[in-house]
Amino acid sequence: MANVVIVGTQWGDEGKGKVVDLLTERSDLVVRFQGGNNAGHTLVVGDKKVILHLIPSGILHKEKLCIIGSGVVIDPEILLDEINALRQKGYVVSPESFAISDRAHVIMPYHKMIDHARDTTQRIGTTGRGIGPAYEDKARRTGIRMIDLINEDMLKKKIENIFDEKQEYLSTILKIKGLDKEEMLVKFKDLGKHLKPYVRDTSIVIDKASKQGKNLLFEGAQGGNLDMDYGTYPYVTSSNTIAGQACVGSGIGPTMIDIVLGICKAYTTRVGEGPFPTELNDETGERLRAFGGEYGSTTGRPRRCGWLDLVALRHSIRISSISYLAITKLDVLSGLKTIKVATAYKSGEAIMEDMPADLCMHPNLELVFDELPGWEENISDIRQYDELPENCKAYISYIEKNLGIDAAIVSVGPKREETIIPKELF
Ligand code: GDP
Ligand code: IMO
Ligand code: MG
Repeated sequence: MANVVIVGTQWGDEGKGKVVDLLTERSDLVVRFQGGNNAGHTLVVGDKKVILHLIPSGILHKEKLCIIGSGVVIDPEILLDEINALRQKGYVVSPESFAISDRAHVIMPYHKMIDHARDTTQRIGTTGRGIGPAYEDKARRTGIRMIDLINEDMLKKKIENIFDEKQEYLSTILKIKGLDKEEMLVKFKDLGKHLKPYVRDTSIVIDKASKQGKNLLFEGAQGGNLDMDYGTYPYVTSSNTIAGQACVGSGIGPTMIDIVLGICKAYTTRVGEGPFPTELNDETGERLRAFGGEYGSTTGRPRRCGWLDLVALRHSIRISSISYLAITKLDVLSGLKTIKVATAYKSGEAIMEDMPADLCMHPNLELVFDELPGWEENISDIRQYDELPENCKAYISYIEKNLGIDAAIVSVGPKREETIIPKELF
């Protein structure tokens, strides 16, 4: 297999974890390149379900190397919990199978407190994991990195430098109880000790692997429309979620990437606040939520559900130069009489086929829909593309034709084997 980047094309939760787990079979090394434990990637293997927030979804495979790249923000306590939970389930997580970038930034207790407190005034509906405030400190050059966390003196110095300012901000501006510096120092020193064996310059590890002809897989979190620059700003996450970030967040250059695979749910979901043009606040929306099990893997919040949105997809495909799609959760649509797809937005007289810079400026948006016939059959047991119901194949072809790219993978259930490869494209 070539070197492949996997990104979400909608507002997250498209089924990236399942596809990464699937493609790890054909690769040697998997890198997570942005986000943090705001992500929740679900893998179903046999009757076991594993939800990963930080560790790449390749970790269930033996003899593959999984890396957390420099673009990720890490909550060390959550990461250790995740390592321990995987070990308890019998999976191997060792310095031979798992590495963390020395340059990745650490999510500190004050980041989580700030995230929680702010979300009541500037309502984004964040996951409350401290992601935004941690990236803020990174850009402000006051962040604590993994290389600092594993060095007691540097950790102390960095915490000393930032402490008074954070304390002041928490108590005076956000009006919440402050922090205990000594407690934080002791706790984070200990976390650093536990994580030290995994911390390395992972850019060098990736480069070496590539020079040895190994196949690389890059795992994105969130989705194109949650991207900090190109998403539905300000209702976005605080990192770049698009394919270009695979380079920055892994420490490689663009010439190393061969293929970008965009994961696309057969309908749309969104968690948290922000514009969602095709949202269904009716029985059909509830049906999608119930049949698709659309509850957040990280926070358990009910996901907002709606029809497929070609405007949002076109946008993601362009900004990430997506080569092929993986269409997931097609089985959830079985039993619908007809299926609607938004092809454009209408604002006044203007027809928009491309995502505007500020969707919030178009509160009275209308939608241009196509309506396709549905299919009755349960499709989760089907493994051959030709055996899918005619209307199901027509739905896939419609998406391919309208977006101008092919589907390399069709997913018909959460399990590894509930997958159809229409044709070998890479
Ligand atoms: P991610 O964040 O993109 O990795 O996606 P999540 O794991 O948050 O959400 C996707 C959910 O759909 C998970 O519960 C998966 O187990 C499940 N899933 C993935 N593919 C399929 C599919 O083809 N059909 C069904 N029914 N469920 C799927
Ligand atoms: P995966 O990788 C879906 C959403 C939050 C909120 C916004 C900002 O599982 O697809 P943040 O905590 O990042 O500052 O929240 O982004 N969000 C996600 N929605 N899937 C995710 O990840 C998400 N990660 C963040 O709900 O609206
Ligand atoms: Mg998810």
